[in-house]
Amino acid sequence: MSGTFTDLRSGITMLRRFLTQRVYAARLVDFCESEGITDCCRKAGRFTAAEMIAILGRDAGFKTGDNRERMTGILLDLLEERGVLKAQTSGGPVIYAFKGAPDEIKPLDAGESAIMEEVFASKMEFFERCLDHAGRFMKGAGFLYEFDDSAATVWDRFLGNFEFKVARAFLLNSMNSYHTDRPRILDLCCGTGHGLEAILRQWPDARVTALDFTGAMRDTALAKAARHNGSINWIDPDAWAGFGHPLPFADCAFDKVFFSCGDPYISEPIRRGVYAEIKRVLAPGGILGSVAWGYPDKGRIHVNNPWIRTGVYIHDFAESVCRGWQGFHDVDATIKMASELGFERSSVFFNNYYMLDTAIWIFRTPGAQGQDRTVTA
Ligand SMILES: C[S@@+](CC[C@H](N)C(=O)[O-])C[C@H]1O[C@@H](n2cnc3c(N)ncnc32)[C@H](O)[C@@H]1O
Repeated sequence: MSGTFTDLRSGITMLRRFLTQRVYAARLVDFCESEGITDCCRKAGRFTAAEMIAILGRDAGFKTGDNRERMTGILLDLLEERGVLKAQTSGGPVIYAFKGAPDEIKPLDAGESAIMEEVFASKMEFFERCLDHAGRFMKGAGFLYEFDDSAATVWDRFLGNFEFKVARAFLLNSMNSYHTDRPRILDLCCGTGHGLEAILRQWPDARVTALDFTGAMRDTALAKAARHNGSINWIDPDAWAGFGHPLPFADCAFDKVFFSCGDPYISEPIRRGVYAEIKRVLAPGGILGSVAWGYPDKGRIHVNNPWIRTGVYIHDFAESVCRGWQGFHDVDATIKMASELGFERSSVFFNNYYMLDTAIWIFRTPGAQGQDRTVTA
């Protein structure tokens, strides 16, 4: 047993034990009980999410704005998954009906708790702090973290968590089939550099460009990149004001865009424009690879494993107390958007790999890749 990610197969096997999901599902069910949400659901009997938001505002002191209404919606979906509520969908808004006590969640045994400590400690720490703050946040307190100097260490630890490492490695593996010699790769929203390290490990000869909208995590990323010999072109954060603004690159400047854990920070109204910009900077036959969960669909078509669904709810709810978080986007909306923009949807994995269903996306721009270069793999 090791807290270090070694290979994809054992990484996926470890994630499929669903340990963090079991711990935090129980914690969120308790949260709903202690914050009075379950009681409000019990008394209301049948209600829509909008009605419950109004009830919680009136009876439990919950505020609205920022992510708060969405957070209530996530909790209702989680309570449905845990058997407390039943959801009925018939075209209009989802109607929730109170059902009863939550399904029992088997507590972790000693061996599983030890794995949690050793393998999932950095994810646990972050979720603990976010969930500790969530009750205050929903009642009007400010955001817990943002991407500034004061939180760089917190982000670095969280972003280095085991699940993200497995997901990045899986994504890079999937992007490998479109590989050219010395590929030009953009690490979009490079953060504290975990993606840069993974890219350089996978393709030591790559010509990598690192971009983020803030310089707050740059030193941490630089230190990580220094452990590798690859070439990195660091773009001054002043050159890009963030999502919704043009990327500071010429058309067709990259063979691959690596976009890890950035999509949930894009708001719905500007999302299409952001992906249009990504497509613009990709060469013909270029690849966009993205790590971002899809929000579980009510029909359970894209994600029917209850623990994956639960895990996505937990993550979405926890990170909602961070400034800029917009939530995981609908799977079908993403597929539709990418197709309308002219991407070829090469693959989104669902109901295949259990742990990473709807988290790994590959989009390809039309055309033959590397017309003037040799395709090597
Ligand atoms: C969860 S971190 C992921 C970082 C990195 N890609 C990784 O996988 O570790 C989200 C990234 O999105 C960036 N980000 C957040 N809001 C943004 C915005 N409005 N415009 C551009 N980038 C943003 C942050 O600076 C951060 O690097």
